[in-house]
Amino acid sequence: MEIRVAGRSGLTLPTLRTSVLEDPKVALRADEPRQETKKLGDIFDKCVRFQHDSRIVKQEDRATAEGVMYRRSPLDNAGPWIEANGRRVLQLSTNDYLGLANHPRVRKAATEIVRRYGVSAPMGARPLTGSIELHTELERELADFKRTERALVFSNGAHTMMGTIAALAGPRDLILLDRYAHASLVCGAKISGARVRFFRHNDPEHLEALLLETPPTQPKMVVVDGVYSMQGDMAPLPEICDLCEKYGSRLIVDDAHGTGVCGENGRGTAELLGVEDRVDLHLGTCSKALATTGGFAAGDAAVIDYLRFTAPTILFTKAMPACVAAATLEALKLLRAAGDRRKKLWANRAFLQDGLRAAGYHIGGTETPITPIFGNGTDAVYMGTALYEEYGIWASAVLYPAVPIGTSILRVIPTANHTRKDLQVFLDAMIKLKTRYSEACEPQPSSVA
Ligand SMILES: Cc1ncc(COP(=O)(O)O)c(C=O)c1O
Repeated sequence: MEIRVAGRSGLTLPTLRTSVLEDPKVALRADEPRQETKKLGDIFDKCVRFQHDSRIVKQEDRATAEGVMYRRSPLDNAGPWIEANGRRVLQLSTNDYLGLANHPRVRKAATEIVRRYGVSAPMGARPLTGSIELHTELERELADFKRTERALVFSNGAHTMMGTIAALAGPRDLILLDRYAHASLVCGAKISGARVRFFRHNDPEHLEALLLETPPTQPKMVVVDGVYSMQGDMAPLPEICDLCEKYGSRLIVDDAHGTGVCGENGRGTAELLGVEDRVDLHLGTCSKALATTGGFAAGDAAVIDYLRFTAPTILFTKAMPACVAAATLEALKLLRAAGDRRKKLWANRAFLQDGLRAAGYHIGGTETPITPIFGNGTDAVYMGTALYEEYGIWASAVLYPAVPIGTSILRVIPTANHTRKDLQVFLDAMIKLKTRYSEACEPQPSSVA
């Protein structure tokens, strides 16, 4: 006996014993008794349910949330001022930390390649036809910058994190992840098949407790962000290095938001905290301070060579386009000489965050330019809408899963290109909005932990 699923020819399943068939997508054969059937499970049901019932955003907030989260950007969106819908809008939510996105040298490097070879060159994945001299040069420069033996360039930052973790860990290994580690690291850990344990955010004591429960012979790695992309705080790397050395664990740091931003020379969180040579593998993206796209792993030659041959996101995807590699090489040169831009970025950060605190906003324990303004429920969505519509300011709202469910943040990021006057425009608007959103600005304990 079998039942058929309407609209999917050929899909037949054995009849189940109980329940009534309710789903209009599931049709009975006319000769079959109704009580012998059961609603078939459909893995897409959640998508239909999401249209009218979601834990992430209440139905009555949905239109506003979609309006602010999927607002269309103009192409020239890096800021600090952009043209959007015929208005001049102040951009305060991109990761163009050093203001290199529109740098003429970076643009020229990319356009020269595009003019001669198009956008797709080189066609193919790295191990097939996709490796070019520009990749090798970029890898040499990144290794030199990060002071490691070698580097490997991926075509995307999230691919870098996923593919690296997935390649380095396997079912016999243990991965210890900070609870707030970036989603791409968590994905990599899941793909790897390794045992995964989470320690409380930035809590070395909890990490040590987990390490103590682990047999010394167990191969393991601790995986953290250098700078947490939503909270803006840094991993306590010196303490984490101590623990990794004490318990024989490898340490991998995703410094997407630290690279170019932290440390005297912009080498990242590990430089700032004085532990560069104690980190086993440095991961980074090209999409933040470098303002292009792509990612990289930098570390010992053996590890990088292993990744070159095993990381699924190197093997099974197209190589970084040559125009991006050329632009990133140029951006890296600029970044290495960007001491003044970095100083301006940090001065802007202090001005903005001091101003928000003085206005009574809760911005948690951020230690970097990432500035989260905490809201209850979807409040940040309403703040973002008011800022855009009433004041012409673009500040992005962030919801679950990037922050704990039931909370939201307005994520504001000053760059080196903002002037004091720009930031004051934003602070003035926030001061005016404070009376309206005073309740909304109380932080949720889970989001500040
Ligand atoms: C900490 C962290 N890691 C990895 C990524 C992924 O980088 P990309 O956007 O370049 O893919 C991001 C960006 O969102 C990030 O914030």
